[in-house]
Amino acid sequence: MARPLNPFSPSFGVSPPLLAGRRAALSGFETVFGNVRSPNYATLVWGLRGTGKTVLLNAFEDRAAAQGWLTVSSAGAMPSGLIEDIARKTTRLLHNFETEHGRRPGRVVSGFSFGALSVQTEAASEADGPGAALRDFESVLAGLGDLLAERGTGLLITIDELHAAEVSEIRQFGGIFQLVSRRPERPIAFAGAALPELEDRLMTGAAATFLQRCNRHEIGNLAISDAEVALRSPIETAGAQIGDEALQLAAEVSGGQPYLIQLIGADMWDECADPVAGIAADDVERALAGSVRKFGDHVYAPLWRRLSDLDKRFLIAMLEDPGSASIADIGRRWRHDNRSLSRYRQRLLSAGLVTSVGRGRIAFVHAAVRSYVARQAIAEGWIETEESG
Ligand SMILES: Nc1ncnc2c1ncn2[C@@H]1O[C@H](COP(=O)(O)OP(=O)(O)OP(=O)(O)O)[C@@H](O)[C@H]1O
Ligand SMILES: [Mg+2]
Repeated sequence: MARPLNPFSPSFGVSPPLLAGRRAALSGFETVFGNVRSPNYATLVWGLRGTGKTVLLNAFEDRAAAQGWLTVSSAGAMPSGLIEDIARKTTRLLHNFETEHGRRPGRVVSGFSFGALSVQTEAASEADGPGAALRDFESVLAGLGDLLAERGTGLLITIDELHAAEVSEIRQFGGIFQLVSRRPERPIAFAGAALPELEDRLMTGAAATFLQRCNRHEIGNLAISDAEVALRSPIETAGAQIGDEALQLAAEVSGGQPYLIQLIGADMWDECADPVAGIAADDVERALAGSVRKFGDHVYAPLWRRLSDLDKRFLIAMLEDPGSASIADIGRRWRHDNRSLSRYRQRLLSAGLVTSVGRGRIAFVHAAVRSYVARQAIAEGWIETEESG
């Protein structure tokens, strides 16, 4: 019998063969379908790199589509600008909807340009400027919302990578959303995803009101039992199998980190001579080092590159302690006062590299961070061997 294809999806933004866990976020989101007043109409998915924000937004979109809803998906860093991108996509949907349902199209907005004064609509002259473009967008959105409401469905707007958006655009979007969707109770839902760094940059600024009103789902690592399901179920669906010991080992080492689960799954499958006969513990053991290394390179390397030398030295000083490290010890190791230490600590916390464990102590968020830092420390000549700290 031919070897079945590797079922795992170790790539960012690619939906896993089985979306494990995330029950609260999914069932919360589903309340929008029956209740136009559901607080989940504005939802924010929040989590570190590789925790599965994008694929959760995709799952929301799939569920919306299954209910006959339409979707506009955008991302924070659109070259054309976020609002303009959403406006253009919404306009296209309205136009298609009207054509499909044999309605005489209303005012067709042919182009949006908010920065330059070049709004092209049949009714608005160019001199009306960006304010007119925003009003056009509002009326297009309201029009589409009404048509969909008549049919008992709605519109979902998703914005991925919200942390990369301009603050002014988030504020504008929030204003329009409030006005067009929430106040008149139109079935227009919003779901955004962001890295926790959004907290520092946006939650306190001008975009804050809208974002703070969103219903937040903080997503992190999956429970180990969910990690086991995420590993076993795709294997069995592919017609293969995995032993209990192998499964436990793989799930434990993943720590429930969704991207690492996919990497380990894919690698142990490739290491195994015959997955149909069964993946065994030694297949997993051969796979792990490579999976953890890839995880570090893909998730932590971009963060590491943005760190200052002092940030790096802070992390390297943590290597001396096998478990968590006390901030005071780290300070003694490289003679820094508490104030500057707490600045580094805060930066590393919000980058998602370390986590606070009780008073005055911190730890790497995942064993993969430790091994990444140790490798970089040697590669960049900070230390000579892993043991010398
Ligand atoms: N619930 C889940 N169960 C199993 N695998 C998952 C789950 N969520 C995400 N994954 C897997 O984890 C990886 C990362 O997912 P995704 O790209 O959505 O993360 P992200 O949070 O958007 O990352 P980034 O912050 O870099 O954009 C993908 O390989 C995906 O298939
Ligand atoms: Mg993503």
